[in-house]
Amino acid sequence: MFMRPIDVVLLLALLACVLVTWTAGRDFSQPNVEFLPDMAHSVAYDAYAPNPNFPDGKTLQAPPAGTIPRDLMPLHYAATPEDAARAGRELRSPLVGDDPKVLARGAFVFASFCQPCHGPTGAGDGPVARRGFPPPPPLVAKHARQLRDGQIFHVVTYGQGNMPSHATQLSRRDRWCVIAHIRELQRRSSATRPVSSSKPAAGGKRP
Ligand code: HEC
Repeated sequence: MFMRPIDVVLLLALLACVLVTWTAGRDFSQPNVEFLPDMAHSVAYDAYAPNPNFPDGKTLQAPPAGTIPRDLMPLHYAATPEDAARAGRELRSPLVGDDPKVLARGAFVFASFCQPCHGPTGAGDGPVARRGFPPPPPLVAKHARQLRDGQIFHVVTYGQGNMPSHATQLSRRDRWCVIAHIRELQRRSSATRPVSSSKPAAGGKRP
């Protein structure tokens, strides 16, 4: 087979490239060489970087007065028992309580945020309570069963007694999902033990 000189040169160049790549042994845990670094990195200010464009010199700014962050519609209730009762009369869950997706999400939220104190079945025997934190009253007891959904929403949003507010951790939808899960726990508990659950755990306070 006849090869022109240029083909020979190209073939050798190709082989040389393959050989160099093979032997160079690049360390893939290291970033590559940056060509034109100003295009690889954002010119936006980092959240905590100093910022000469604002009078206080900070990048993070409070939202302008009169604006509402997306998904954070304000609730017009105070953290008082009277407003908890009013929330019970006024607020309704927008979700279908026995929708399997709502219940699955509610169970997940409960396991992550409530179970440490309230325990897996809501009996008030979570690990935090067992290590000395004032035990919460059972969520499957008569008192909690009689709380309206809106009242529980108020408790989760504003906290109550020793229970802290969960307003910043949980979206409103997640709060309604967890309420659906509490109702499910109550249904399950009445299916297994009829009356005995109506006493609060020792030390559990009532509003
Ligand atoms: C740090 C522990 C703690 C966590 C976490 C916690 N709670 Fe509580 N919860 C309490 C305590 C303590 C009380 C009793 C409050 C009081 O003194 O009235 C309580 C009370 C309640 C009540 C009122 C029960 C009644 O019968 O009055 C509800 C409903 C409730 N919690 C739901 C929740 C839900 C839902 C979550 C998760 C989103 C949650 N709690 C997370 C400790 C906790």
